[in-house]
Amino acid sequence: MSPGPTLWWDKEAGSICYIDQTLLPGRERIVTCRSVRQLARAIRKLGIRGAPALGVAGAFGIALSASLCRKKDPGQFHAQVTRDAELLRSTRPTAVNLGWGIDRVLGAMRDTRDVQAARAAALAEAELIFIEDTACCHAIGDHGAALLPDTCTVLTHCNAGALACSSWGTALGVIRSAVQAGKQVNVIACETRPLLQGARLTAWELLRDGIPVTVITDSMAAHIMRNEKIDAVIVGADRITRDAVFNKIGTYMHAVCARHHGIPFYVAAPLSTFDLKRMAVDVVIEERGREEVAVIGNRIFVPPAASVKNPAFDATPLELVTAIVTEKGVVRPPFTPEDLSRGRTK
Ligand code: MRU
Repeated sequence: MSPGPTLWWDKEAGSICYIDQTLLPGRERIVTCRSVRQLARAIRKLGIRGAPALGVAGAFGIALSASLCRKKDPGQFHAQVTRDAELLRSTRPTAVNLGWGIDRVLGAMRDTRDVQAARAAALAEAELIFIEDTACCHAIGDHGAALLPDTCTVLTHCNAGALACSSWGTALGVIRSAVQAGKQVNVIACETRPLLQGARLTAWELLRDGIPVTVITDSMAAHIMRNEKIDAVIVGADRITRDAVFNKIGTYMHAVCARHHGIPFYVAAPLSTFDLKRMAVDVVIEERGREEVAVIGNRIFVPPAASVKNPAFDATPLELVTAIVTEKGVVRPPFTPEDLSRGRTK
């Protein structure tokens, strides 16, 4: 079950391979990434996307930088890798995992005895992050599956699935684990304007697993919550601060609607997505290009004189969240700093 890895390190070629998510569901194309600039472009245009996958991409990006850097002098070598790290870090500011993956690999390279040892340490750490990510998703899935009734309909937003991680997924990992445990789960996938990660990616990967999915436009969610039986909303996260969950734009709207209709609102995320030093006001929300909203296919749908906003994420206050599922267990209100940093309520 679940599509194979979303991105991986090709040992023979010394490069990063990834499924180009901009082409799904029409084409399943594997791209080989041979330079850090190419990787930065792929992340910017969402060829690789989703918080945990960005953590893995950042980690492999540093390993790639280290393996390509020809400088023999350790000072020059580390300076080049640091420049590449800053290029990668700048591609997407909201998902905390990107910087987390980069920093973990930079940390592993510190105090190595020479350039060769630094290269080896970088790759070993990146491979470990990749393996740990899959293990985290399975643990999140197992903890979260217990929250779902034996037969249920779950609404999700964007794509927090195998494609957003190294495999299995966070929010979709919960659904996969529930199905694996014998539960019957129907999924309502919100299309997720403007880039349609829900319609294109969530529907694609659930269907590959034989999990029934119905796609709705984002504006249908309140109507569906009021008129049909929705047992839970489950989403992933790009960053969890002390007071809010940052996730794909539209998530906050679903949380408000879920609260109004008495539907549990669950967030599934690994501890690497937690940023407990910050509050929501400290976080930069990525603003993306006008064309993502104004152009569909080859047609312009917004008059050129109209301005357009395109924030990629929003912040859902923790008071609207029923529980956060992590690899350590389930965190429940009042979401104390201790419980959040532990990843579960005692
Ligand atoms: O802009 P994207 O597609 O990278 O946004 C992704 C999301 O908002 C996901 O829900 C989030 O990263 C969680 S992925 C497990």
